[in-house]
Amino acid sequence: MNTKEVVLQELEKNRGIYISGQELADRLKISRTAIWKAINALKSDGFIIDSQTKRGYKLDDASDMISVPGIKEYLIPELKDIDIILYDEIDSTNTEAKRLLYSGEIKNFTCLVSDYQTSGRGRTGKSFKSYKGTGIYYSIILKPKDNFDFSYFDLVTIRSAVSVSKAIEKLLKESPQIKWVNDIYLKGKKVCGILSELDADFESKTVSSIIVGIGINLKYPPKLDEEIKDIFGALNTDILRNKIIASLLNEFYLSYYEKETESILKYYKDHSLVLGKEVFYELNGQKKQGKAIDINNKGNLLVNVNGKEEILSSGEVSIKGDFLNKK
Ligand code: BTN
Repeated sequence: MNTKEVVLQELEKNRGIYISGQELADRLKISRTAIWKAINALKSDGFIIDSQTKRGYKLDDASDMISVPGIKEYLIPELKDIDIILYDEIDSTNTEAKRLLYSGEIKNFTCLVSDYQTSGRGRTGKSFKSYKGTGIYYSIILKPKDNFDFSYFDLVTIRSAVSVSKAIEKLLKESPQIKWVNDIYLKGKKVCGILSELDADFESKTVSSIIVGIGINLKYPPKLDEEIKDIFGALNTDILRNKIIASLLNEFYLSYYEKETESILKYYKDHSLVLGKEVFYELNGQKKQGKAIDINNKGNLLVNVNGKEEILSSGEVSIKGDFLNKK
């Protein structure tokens, strides 16, 4: 960590409390001039730091800049050493994750976080809209061990959706719903989309990497794109972004490594937006409709179509009354 980061780390640990320049210099074993320079640099980055002659420096409670020390402050011990890379702007954190994987050694659970994406990607080749300063866009890179059971990957998307839903539930004390496979809804609007990508070798049955990309709307942007106007929802919270990101990562870790798939599936089903409802989908170019009756232990959606059970493993389903039906 450079001087700026260690100073920020110390301020984050003592958020809302004044620490004198001398105290900071002693704790960090650097000169007071270095502290002063770091504070000025942090201020010009956008951190709200109050400086008072007699009291020292204080990171304001309202300072909502995303930072690595700020995120780490709220991470569970198991995640304290992960690599987190921040971007003000990037084409897509999933695309960047692929570039990084091809260009060098990347640690398991490396996390890329961006404030904005210029070419965010959604499932089935669609684009995903990002808005500056009002959302969180991140990708987690997972490097499974060689002996991982291949069938484990069936549930990666389910586990990811569960993790986001649990984090939202804990942070906001509200109950989100999961629209199969992995869109998260709050009060009937989509607040999060997830795109999981796998680099697998089917012959050797090994997976070299998984990229789980997650986009969450925190606030309504000043101007929403027309095509997502009806479906767009936001968490609408003032909780610090560092805390939200850390909660999402903590829950992701817990869900991803949870050995009891039953509990994951139970949570998923209990929060399902589609089970018991009439769903509409396309299969082999044919428009279909049936009642969603269950989700099996591979994460497939079981649909009753005129008394016959159909198993959906991927794709989009729409529900009466939601935006997809209007197409
Ligand atoms: C969807 O709703 O279809 C999935 C959207 C996934 C968006 C996230 S944002 C972070 C990551 N980077 C991307 O380009 N996509 C995912």
